[in-house]
This record gives sequence, C-alpha cells and structure tokens, in this order.
Amino acid sequence: MTAQRIEGKVISDEIRSELKVDAARLAADGIVPGLAVILVGEDKASQVYVSNKAKACEQLGFYSEVHRLSGDTSEADLLALIDTLNRQSSIHGILVQLPLPSHIEEKAVIDAISVEKDVDGFHPVSVGNMVIGDDSLLPCTPAGVIELIKRSGNSIAGKHAVVIGRSNIVGKPVSMLLLRENATVTICHSRTADMEAIARTADILVVAIGKPEAIGASYVKPGAIVIDVGINRLADNRLVGDVDFEAAREVAGYITPVPGGVGPMTITMLLANTLKAAKASAARKA
Ligand code: GUN
Repeated sequence: MTAQRIEGKVISDEIRSELKVDAARLAADGIVPGLAVILVGEDKASQVYVSNKAKACEQLGFYSEVHRLSGDTSEADLLALIDTLNRQSSIHGILVQLPLPSHIEEKAVIDAISVEKDVDGFHPVSVGNMVIGDDSLLPCTPAGVIELIKRSGNSIAGKHAVVIGRSNIVGKPVSMLLLRENATVTICHSRTADMEAIARTADILVVAIGKPEAIGASYVKPGAIVIDVGINRLADNRLVGDVDFEAAREVAGYITPVPGGVGPMTITMLLANTLKAAKASAARKA
C-alpha cells in the first residue's frame, strides 16, 4: 500500500485563510500586524526566503519591511537596528535571517530581540517558556510539523515519536513540542547506536538532518507518519528531502513530500506568530 501524501501547500493555504479572517477582524480595530525582516549579506537562498516572507505578509494584509544590510555591517550597527525595531509600535515581529556573516555573533543578535517580538521563537526566554509549557511564540518549522500531523487527521498522544536530528532550530524544539502533545519521544543523532532499529519503532518519524535522501525504507515502520524537514539541492538542481521519498512511501502510512510538505508551513507559522504578537501587543495596551 502506498502512503497518503501530507500536502503542506493545501494545509498551509487553509491556515492562511484562517489567519486572513483573523487579521481582517483585527484591522477593524485599527491594528495591522507588522513584521520586520533583516537580511545581512548576499546569500542567494536567504534572499529568496526573505522576499517570500515579505510577499506572504502582503497577501494577508500585514505590514512588512525588509532591511537589507551589506555583508560587512558591524554587529553594533545590527544591534542598533534591532533596538530601534524593538521600540517601534508598528512592528510586532522581528526576524533576523540566519545564517549571519561569521564576524557577527548569532547569539548576541538573537538575545537582543525583544521576547514579545521574537516571531522565530529562538530567544532563550521563548525556548524556556516552550519547554516549561508556558505561552510563548513557538519556532516556526517545529510548530508547522505539529500542525501537519494534526491537520492530516492524525493524533499524537501516546504515540512513539522518533526525531532524527538535534539542531536548535528543528530537532530539539520539535521534540519538546511532540512531548507537549503527549507523545513518547526519542531523539536520535549522529552518535546514536543502531538508529535504524530505533527509527523502525516510530509511529511518528521526524527527520531533520540535512542529508539528501539519507533515510530509506528500512528506517520506516509500516504505517508510520513520516515528516521530512530536509530541503537539499542536488548537483542536477533537483530538490530532495532527507528521506528517500519513493522508497519510504511504499512502507509509511503518511508522508510529506519535498517540496510541498514542511516547507510551505514555515512561513505560514511565521505569519501566525506575527498575528499572535500583534494581538498580544493590543491586549497589553487595552
Ligand atoms: N534560516 C533558515 N531557517 C531559518 C528560520 O527559521 N529563521 C531564520 N531567522 N533564519 C533561518
């Protein structure tokens, strides 16, 4: 039996229409969600991501501004811009596109963003609140993974979720969110012994390692939900995930394609966070 594809584009469009309705309601009260995106340097992929983020804002009637800074911008100048945006009441979310040039310390930049405007969910206070289970802005890709599982009609509670990858951007936070949803969570990484056998016990398998088609059918339990967070560009220009899609789909019950799976969800959750931050800001003022 071939797995059911989890269509990230369809689910993403569904969430965006909900957000649009919500944003229109907010606009009636004179509040327009505002996002500031900062891009330092000329990285090609980052340029595409940043303009996609701005376009998505426009489609929902959000305000957005993109600050394109040259690659030799000093850390002090970047921190000064963040400080200005932290104080600007028309801006509810601030996102600094990563990676940054090597002369800028990423941690100093993330720490400088006001927690209320941390729509990436990368600030240590946001991360701490997420782990504790307090209300916070959740990191976009991990939050998107949870939405994909739920909105494809699957439950999480009581299931064994295996996460392959332990990055701060995806592996660690998605593990915490799955735990919050009452899954039993195992985290695998490059030093895990017999990863294949562990993965094969997963009801939910989330893969985020950045290695093209590294996870084949032998890692997948029959009927499992497979979520592929990887986006890898091959030498022949093809875009593939971390999972060997054609092989894994013959074993899995549900599987996300690449492209068109997790990818579209990341920006959607960024929009959701910006709206949430705008609402919270309005509530603080009221
Ligand atoms: N670069 C790759 N992914 C991300 C992300 O989720 N947020 C930011 N700010 N930069 C990224």
